[in-house]
Amino acid sequence: MPAQKTSITFCSLLSPYRARIAAVLFLMLSANLLALVLPWAIKIIIDDILTGKDADSLNLMMPALVAILGLRSVFGFLRAYLSGSTGERIVCDLRQEICDHIPRLSLTSINKISPAQILTRITQDVNSLRRFLFGDAVEFIYAFLNIGFIAAILSFVNVKLTVLSLSALPLFAVIYFLLIPELKNRHSRLRDMHGVLSSRFSEVLNGIRMVRSFAGNARERQLFETKQRDILSVATRTHYLHSWLWVGIEFFTSLGIIGILWIGGSDVMAGRMTAGELVAFYTYLGMLFSPVIRMVVINASYQEALAALNRINDVMNIDDEVPEAEHSAGPGKIEGRVEFKKVSFHYTAGDPVLKDIHFAAESGETIGIVGASGAGKTTLVSLLLRFFDPDEGEILIDGKKLKDLGLDAYRRQIAVVLQDDFLFSGTVEDNIKYGKPQASREDIVQAARIAQAHPFISELADGYKTEVGERGFNLSCGQRQRIAIARAVIKNPSLLILDEATSSVDALTENDIQRSIRRFMKGKTVFLVAHRFSTVMESDKILVLDKGRIVEAGGHNYLLNKRGFYSSLYLEQFKDEDRASLSQRQ
Ligand SMILES: Nc1ncnc2c1ncn2[C@@H]1O[C@H](COP(=O)(O)OP(=O)(O)O)[C@@H](O)[C@H]1O
Ligand SMILES: [Mg+2]
Repeated sequence: MPAQKTSITFCSLLSPYRARIAAVLFLMLSANLLALVLPWAIKIIIDDILTGKDADSLNLMMPALVAILGLRSVFGFLRAYLSGSTGERIVCDLRQEICDHIPRLSLTSINKISPAQILTRITQDVNSLRRFLFGDAVEFIYAFLNIGFIAAILSFVNVKLTVLSLSALPLFAVIYFLLIPELKNRHSRLRDMHGVLSSRFSEVLNGIRMVRSFAGNARERQLFETKQRDILSVATRTHYLHSWLWVGIEFFTSLGIIGILWIGGSDVMAGRMTAGELVAFYTYLGMLFSPVIRMVVINASYQEALAALNRINDVMNIDDEVPEAEHSAGPGKIEGRVEFKKVSFHYTAGDPVLKDIHFAAESGETIGIVGASGAGKTTLVSLLLRFFDPDEGEILIDGKKLKDLGLDAYRRQIAVVLQDDFLFSGTVEDNIKYGKPQASREDIVQAARIAQAHPFISELADGYKTEVGERGFNLSCGQRQRIAIARAVIKNPSLLILDEATSSVDALTENDIQRSIRRFMKGKTVFLVAHRFSTVMESDKILVLDKGRIVEAGGHNYLLNKRGFYSSLYLEQFKDEDRASLSQRQ
């Protein structure tokens, strides 16, 4: 079983920054206490200084107030800066953790998540987490403290008015329970709809040639229009609810304030309260309402962050199904002896893709693998690369179990070229160097020559410095395949796997590639997977795969004379080629 990854939690994200978070809380608390001074100063001015016409006290008090409020600003600045920068660091950590994990994503499960969805995790979900942890959660603590302090001061000023004001709180609860769940619901629907839209966007972008060749513009346009209309209707309705929420909160807040002025005003006239106390009470109350509103929002934000965290963990928990051996022995220099011992494998239970695969390849041999498409050729080499482990049987490399070898050290010594191999955006040179980052110009050119890529690369406008797109869009398939071969060859591997790697190259060039590779890989092991028989004809041993089984094995002449599966497929293909060349001549 793969090692269980521990999930990311709010705690695991925050704990490296405990000291900073403590500092943020301290600064917040201090700024908070200092802010509470102002309404009380107003009370003193109205009740004592103005009535007593005490100019000296006023002149004394103002600089003190400036100092206090200045200090509050300093604390406020430090808090905002520290919490903002800590938030960024946490987001960076998290993104790094996700990025580190992506190359380890299980290859069977990766097909179930679209790249667009993974991108959403890295961008949107990570940002929702930051918004919650360093926006709303901080505000919440701030609000919580404020409510406590202010409620204490309010009841010190006037208990009756305090009770009255706090009795308005249930109104907030009503708004909260009516509107917020519905809003939350709509927000998550909107997010899903946006996800679907961007997935389609990226598919259309990737398949732009297909869309265009099928004259699919109108169809795509229509599809987008329908999806956009749906999004618009949900979004509009969400804004409608949202507007009601804020208007409602504002209205009830105003009602409360009017009530306070009314009752408080009567109390002042009756001499039960001073005018300064009423003003102070009113100001403190204003300071109370905004935290209450923030507390209303916190739950929605918390739920959103929790959902984001779960989605991120969904990706983080899809771990590579190939566990690193506990006491992996570095393979040392690989000689290239490969043995498959009764290997069986399935992707989905009950549907075996490889059955009883049993063969041995001596180092220095070239092993050809042929078979109809879907026969299991790519799966066989995937097992050799240890992308997956067999369900039954054993794979031995130089007599050692593949499972026990250090994965990275092993993969560094083997090289593979797949049929539709991937080129990174960058120059031709960068792409070839991916196989050996410290390669010199001579190494690169030599590898390109072996792959028969040098002639066409030299003819490109910028030669080896030509930029190729993410998918090598400005190159033909055959050219891309040759760059991929150069990238594999430059590794100087002990074991080379070419999985239909020359399928898009013309037959003459393919022959040249074969010849130069044979020369280069002398004494090392090569696996040649091909659909075309001409590709494998000269292999030392050919494995003929049919529906996941090796049905025949041996050299070309032996298999041909055997007049079995191989020879019938061979003659079939030969006939096709004959017919093709005949029709070309006509
Ligand atoms: N990642 C995968 N998940 C599930 N089934 C797969 C996967 N890759 C290949 N298969 C299935 O395994 C069978 C063999 O595929 P493959 O090894 O790619 O054949 P070949 O390379 O000979 O064309 C096919 O039936 C294919 O549908
Ligand atoms: Mg294949």
